Amino acid sequence: MREKGIFISFEGPDGAGKTSVLRVILDRLKPILKDRLLITREPGGVNNRVAENIRNIVLSSDYDEIDSRTEVLLFAAARRQHLVQTIIPALKEGKVVISDRYVDSSIAYQGGGRQIGVQKVSDINFFATEGILPDKTIYFKVRSEVGIERINSTRTNEINRLDNAAIEFHKRVNETYLSLVEAGNQRFEIVNAEESIEKVVEETWQIIKKIIGS
Ligand SMILES: Nc1ncnc2c1ncn2[C@@H]1O[C@H](COP(=O)(O)OP(=O)(O)OP(=O)(O)O)[C@@H](O)[C@H]1O
Ligand SMILES: [Mg+2]
Repeated sequence: MREKGIFISFEGPDGAGKTSVLRVILDRLKPILKDRLLITREPGGVNNRVAENIRNIVLSSDYDEIDSRTEVLLFAAARRQHLVQTIIPALKEGKVVISDRYVDSSIAYQGGGRQIGVQKVSDINFFATEGILPDKTIYFKVRSEVGIERINSTRTNEINRLDNAAIEFHKRVNETYLSLVEAGNQRFEIVNAEESIEKVVEETWQIIKKIIGS
């Protein structure tokens, strides 16, 4: 299906630093890869109206009536559109595609976090992606307490602090992620995301340089 290009995903729980690191990596990769670079993210995706509109629904607090299986299907639908309209065409043009989150996020958040079940969510996503996985997934490993603390410290007052249910949710997400990484294979590269942001950037950069062979 894709002969050229390299597909990389960034995964890890909230507060792991994926987006912060990717911002720095973008600045380093741009001069090297120029127009051979596509940075995108899920849910949604660059130049993708359908996936971005689904993003607005799934991330909005306006739709708190959303059923958990509906949520699984919407994430998978957005991913399908992202894959066929954004990711695959870029790979066919030989680009390096880096996506901030991809299929492992659904398995960890909906499968584990929302307790839909890892197998069910994997099956739905296999349909959506036809089994297309990243060449490499960089996993930002951080203990739940550390990730939650980072999220909490960006909030302004006690009322906004995560409640117990949210903390339990985050722990299930983290455990499911770790089981994927541990059961996993050559696809995963693990970064110690508890280090300073500078160190996490450096570790990620070394991995990316190796992947793109430069
Ligand atoms: N290594 C780090 N040390 C300390 N703070 C960090 C580190 N990495 C990120 N942060 C801070 O943690 C917060 C979350 O970071 P960021 O948004 O990059 O995480 P993320 O993995 O993209 O999370 P999400 O999944 O919620 O998008 C930010 O306030 C960021 O500045
Ligand atoms: Mg982020």
